[in-house]
Amino acid sequence: MKIRSPFVAVIGAGQVGATTAQRILEKGIADVVLFDVVEGMPQGKALDLMEAAPVEGHDRRITGTNAYKDIEGAEIVVITAGLARKPGMSREDLLAANARIISDVSANIKRYAPEAKVIVVTNPLDIMTHLCQKLTGFPSQRVFGMAGVLDTARMRYFIAERLACVPSHVEAVVLGGHGDLMVPVSSQSKVGFRQLKDLIPAPELAKIEQRTRDGGAEIVALLKTGSAYYAPASSVCEMVRAILRDEKKVLPVCAYVRGEYGLKDIYSGVPAVLGRSGVESVVSLQLTDEESQALQRSADKVRQGVSEVEKILANENARVSS
Ligand code: APR
Repeated sequence: MKIRSPFVAVIGAGQVGATTAQRILEKGIADVVLFDVVEGMPQGKALDLMEAAPVEGHDRRITGTNAYKDIEGAEIVVITAGLARKPGMSREDLLAANARIISDVSANIKRYAPEAKVIVVTNPLDIMTHLCQKLTGFPSQRVFGMAGVLDTARMRYFIAERLACVPSHVEAVVLGGHGDLMVPVSSQSKVGFRQLKDLIPAPELAKIEQRTRDGGAEIVALLKTGSAYYAPASSVCEMVRAILRDEKKVLPVCAYVRGEYGLKDIYSGVPAVLGRSGVESVVSLQLTDEESQALQRSADKVRQGVSEVEKILANENARVSS
């Protein structure tokens, strides 16, 4: 069956990629091309998903492929290719292996989908997003990462659990890098127009913030083989919908900042307006001094990771050419 435009290409048909494809299809958002390097696997998953269509009652289409030329014309490319974290492994441990994968994927996106918006999901997220932008050479407005929606969703759920309310009623925001130094911004969190600090005592709130920072690791420790994928897929899907429908929705995303929040020329988790052009602007929130300092620390760690990955790739390139 022929894929119709606008369509989304998902690179990596593993847990996050396939679940993202499923959500995009079953919510009726767009057709999907699912790519993986493993032969037969994306084709098998795509066929399985198509066979669910009569029961799910949607008319979206998906094809699986091992050929990059099939992503030609994609409006959005979602990168989930890479290794997932194992127990005891930090996101940073993944750095070198996933940097090689992102280099290969970015070169192919540049070649086959030069007009696409790119949503990076592969960890360590902020560093991989930076790398993808550098290697594709696309405007930073079109290359951004999914992390803030997920981190914020985790925090919203933990708050809802504590207050015994519906999770979607909780407004919260988590900024900074998608790592141990992410910044849950409790000063901006509300439930039913009420400030969070008036609903939850400070020591308990501090525990919720820490559980949010450890949210990914908590799932990894439970699963033992692999990392989270349901909530990550939901989060990517929300971003895809905001872009394709030109919703101008403000979502926390890993975006390139040029002075906002005192951060310059770096990718960081910030609230941004998402529309058909990608990241259309960064939204500035009033932070407390403590939150601002935490955001700086988080950005410093991302900067460190970026220079580490650039060194690794430069050494590898030097070895190849010698
Ligand atoms: N090109 C395309 N796909 C690749 C490549 C490559 N060079 N290398 C690996 N893959 C594919 C694998 O074949 C696999 O199907 O990426 C897929 C990854 O899937 P999983 O191992 O199931 O990992 P997943 O849980 O989906 O996580 C993927 O998202 O959240 C992040 O930390 C997570 O970086 C990880 C990524």
